[in-house]
Amino acid sequence: MIIRDAVDGDLETVRRIYNRAVAATTAIWNETIVDLDDRRRWAATRRAAWHPVLVAEIDGAVAGYGSYGDFRAFDGYRHTCEHSVYVDEGFRRRGVARALVEALEARAVAAGKHTMIAGIEAGNDASIALHAALGFVEVGRLPQVGRKFDRWLDLVFMEKIVGD
Ligand SMILES: CC(C)(COP(=O)(O)OP(=O)(O)OC[C@H]1O[C@@H](n2cnc3c(N)ncnc32)[C@H](O)[C@@H]1OP(=O)(O)O)[C@@H](O)C(=O)NCCC(=O)NCCS
Repeated sequence: MIIRDAVDGDLETVRRIYNRAVAATTAIWNETIVDLDDRRRWAATRRAAWHPVLVAEIDGAVAGYGSYGDFRAFDGYRHTCEHSVYVDEGFRRRGVARALVEALEARAVAAGKHTMIAGIEAGNDASIALHAALGFVEVGRLPQVGRKFDRWLDLVFMEKIVGD
């Protein structure tokens, strides 16, 4: 497995993985399927802010991707980032997400971040287990702050202090 910065040629697979999560899961609380230009704009915005967009490549295929952005848009949060990670269904339970989050953590530390946050739907056992395995701890649980598929969703924040 190779973890590397995403290039334009990866974004079609990123779009497909993202759209699958939008259409079929509560991992992301969006409902709109996006086109390639949307993912290009998203990646460009992340890069312009010096935030990483990473992919995991296995045998030449993009198996998953991860990125982080600002946690909240106020100066005082500049040392905190919020990340997300998505793995293609055919590549799960092979350590792809673990490798991506570990790489994001290394980038975050190098960028002077102090804290990483994951915002996870409370029923997303896989993501909660992944983050617990990587040393993140639950620091907050917000009942019924989201809605998708005609039901209320709870948000769990998991946090890890990663830098000085
Ligand atoms: C959550 C997700 C990213 C995990 O990706 P993955 O590559 O399969 O995870 P990994 O193989 O790196 O797993 C690392 C550890 O996380 C935990 N874990 C991952 N998936 C799990 C699952 N389905 N059930 C229980 N534990 C799980 C395990 O501790 C695992 O270690 P192990 O395989 O040695 O037991 C993946 O299921 C996914 O893309 N889901 C949809 C999108 C999503 O929910 N993203 C997170 C949004 S916050």
